[in-house]
Amino acid sequence: MDYPFEKKIIREEETKTLAEYFAEETKSGQIIVINGELGAGKTFFVKCAVSVWGIVNASSPSFAIVNIYYGERKIYHFDFYRLKNKEELFDIGFNDYINDPDAITFIEWGNLIPDVLPKSRIEINIEMPEDSVRNFRFNKYE
Ligand SMILES: Nc1ncnc2c1ncn2[C@@H]1O[C@H](COP(=O)(O)OP(=O)(O)O)[C@@H](O)[C@H]1O
Ligand SMILES: [Mg+2]
Repeated sequence: MDYPFEKKIIREEETKTLAEYFAEETKSGQIIVINGELGAGKTFFVKCAVSVWGIVNASSPSFAIVNIYYGERKIYHFDFYRLKNKEELFDIGFNDYINDPDAITFIEWGNLIPDVLPKSRIEINIEMPEDSVRNFRFNKYE
């Protein structure tokens, strides 16, 4: 994938193909932030991506804040939606998670607490200009 990358998507199946393609080139240690309104498909994207590594039990971590999955890769799956402040994140050891070189970290709603995000990250923004259209934009920050 050449960054920035943008793709307009209509069907769920296209999101799945894109997520799988993205996962194939993702390496341990990377942080992926996914922003977009409720129902945009952030969790769906993560589910499809981690399926590439044999993980079938991915689900929305909004209540737990973080889910951990083990497959061919170790995955930390965060959702910032229910967080009240960044102290809550530091209490659960956020820095240890994102500094684990052996894991890939996905963060839904990362834009809600931007100052805890590492500089080096991939950011995916999902916009829905119409009900049936999703615009996926990928950016990479070093
Ligand atoms: N092209 C698409 N990409 C992603 N999800 C889609 C698409 N079309 C329909 N959906 C549906 O939209 C919903 C997105 O929900 P979810 O991934 O939980 O959103 P979010 O985590 O952004 O709140 C899912 O039920 C999914 O099946
Ligand atoms: Mg979600």
